[in-house]
Amino acid sequence: AVHRIAVIGGDGIGPEVIDQAIRAAEVAARKHDGADLQWAKLPWSTAYYKQHGRMLPEDGWDQLKAYEAILFGAVGDPSVPDKITVHELLLPMRRKYDQYVNLRPAYLFAGVPCPLAGKKPGEIDMLVYRENTEGEYAPVGGNLYPGTENQIAVQTGVFTWKGCERILRAAFEAARKRPRKKLTSITKSNAQVYGLGLWDDVFHAVRKDYTDVDSGSLLVDAAAMDFVRKPESFDVVVASNLFGDILTDLSAAVTGSIGLASSANINPTKKFPSMFEPVHGSAPDIAGKGIANPLAAVLSAALMLDHLGLAQSAAAVRAAVAHVLATGAVRTPDLGGSATTTQMGDAVVAALA
Ligand code: NAI
Ligand code: MG
Repeated sequence: AVHRIAVIGGDGIGPEVIDQAIRAAEVAARKHDGADLQWAKLPWSTAYYKQHGRMLPEDGWDQLKAYEAILFGAVGDPSVPDKITVHELLLPMRRKYDQYVNLRPAYLFAGVPCPLAGKKPGEIDMLVYRENTEGEYAPVGGNLYPGTENQIAVQTGVFTWKGCERILRAAFEAARKRPRKKLTSITKSNAQVYGLGLWDDVFHAVRKDYTDVDSGSLLVDAAAMDFVRKPESFDVVVASNLFGDILTDLSAAVTGSIGLASSANINPTKKFPSMFEPVHGSAPDIAGKGIANPLAAVLSAALMLDHLGLAQSAAAVRAAVAHVLATGAVRTPDLGGSATTTQMGDAVVAALA
């Protein structure tokens, strides 16, 4: 089968790491699922913006709909405000294509230094399901009397029954398929009684359909402590937009490097394309040096292969990454080595062969 994928490398290290993800995904898909991946590289980036005055062409959102999936690097450049780069391309994509599931796995690979003492490889193994379309990041609010000392800003969180229900069900479905069958719902409903109180109501309604899952809830401050103190106690975690965002930087940190953290922005109905991207940004401080760790992008491509129904290829990519990390001969500087981005990509491709 042929799968058509849009590639937006974006800025900084984005295109560098995405090139390695493409190589790994292509080799795995052909070998393990007999699938042919066709890539359409789209130049949408800060450079594109400087030339055209916009991040993507006028019909860009329609163009993208023709693809099954989008592989995304990162956007952001010191020369242009994030309000343009991130806010005109990345954030609208999640809402326009209703990518309401933001899946962010956190796994402690063998051979990766863990900042927490005494953790064994595989002991930290969680899937964070972050709500990706509403909640605290809903573009609802206003600003009165800007630039004066009377300035008033209102930022409203929007929580809907349907929005909470669909992310909670996605997380429960995932928990049901995992060996530990455990789910933790994160809120702050003791303080934000309306929005997160609604989340809790939905949680209690939905969990009745999943009595085989060991489910409970935790307040976000306690959860932050436990992500550091005992991250091994978590299996599937489901959280609102803001809390999921913050907690996944923490889960990336405790599993060794932001250069290993992958993510998927999924529209489960497949009505619109889903988007797969490393959690990290464009890293201007190391861009152009060829030393970025490409494994977060490679693991994001594995999540894409899962979404395309190429489960064996996805598993093969993850196994190849695990092998490269465990062997430890090829490591980028973020993991304490001196390998280049391309050498790391070569090692993954060699492990897949
Ligand atoms: P960042 O994630 O780009 O970098 C943070 C730190 O982690 C830097 O020291 C960087 O060198 C390091 N790092 C990141 N990825 C790495 C990798 N693969 N290998 C080795 N080291 C890595 O976050 P920062 O600096 O806050 O943001 C830079 C730009 O990226 C900003 O314009 C920001 O808005 C944008 N950004 C874009 C995102 C996206 O497109 N999804 C996500 C996060 C930030
Ligand atoms: Mg973040």
